[in-house]
Amino acid sequence: MQIFIDSADVLEIRRAAETGNCDGVTTNPSLIMKAGRDYNETLKEICSIVKGPVSAETVSLDADGMVKEGITFSKIAKNIVVKVPMTVEGMKACQMLTKKGIKVNVTLCFSANQALLTAKSGAFIVSPFVGRLDDAGEVGMDLIKDIKLIYDNYKFKTKILVASVRNTNHVLEAAKIGADIATVPYSVFEQLFKHSLTDVGIKKFLEDWEKVQKKK
Ligand code: G3P
Repeated sequence: MQIFIDSADVLEIRRAAETGNCDGVTTNPSLIMKAGRDYNETLKEICSIVKGPVSAETVSLDADGMVKEGITFSKIAKNIVVKVPMTVEGMKACQMLTKKGIKVNVTLCFSANQALLTAKSGAFIVSPFVGRLDDAGEVGMDLIKDIKLIYDNYKFKTKILVASVRNTNHVLEAAKIGADIATVPYSVFEQLFKHSLTDVGIKKFLEDWEKVQKKK
């Protein structure tokens, strides 16, 4: 499973990329607001750091507007993927952009039927939001299981990207189900490397090594 960073913070993205475990990046207007920088400039910088897909989100509500924004984004770098929302207009834009050879990530997916329409519209990626479903009292990961089953049934090529990840357990469950990608906040990315017994083990090995040195 690929791991993307869900962030528009260039420092975080650079740190994640340095580990060799960051396969791509997803951004959205809320993340850009947090980063406080110009969107296109930020995207350009992110694309120079990470060679994998970098998602840039459109804000128009009509298909023509989304396509126009998508074409502009696609000129920033080869690895740009255009994000459109899961709406009727979003599906139209997805088909139009895909026909032009521009990869699309359909975002704000909350049901398996939405994911079915996304795949039928030729999207490169579907982004189901598991955390927000959990917040609403549903089980977000159940949606991933359903989408995986449907996509396998019909051999859809659309990649399942688990979004709105809140913790490392979401990542583990995504991998067990066989999702293609999980996009994670930097805080969760850091946690993936850690286990308390690893730290205890390193401490013990170093203490024993020092004892060996003292005996020499
Ligand atoms: O990028 C889309 C998604 O990951 C947003 O997550 O935490 O705002 O629900 P969140």
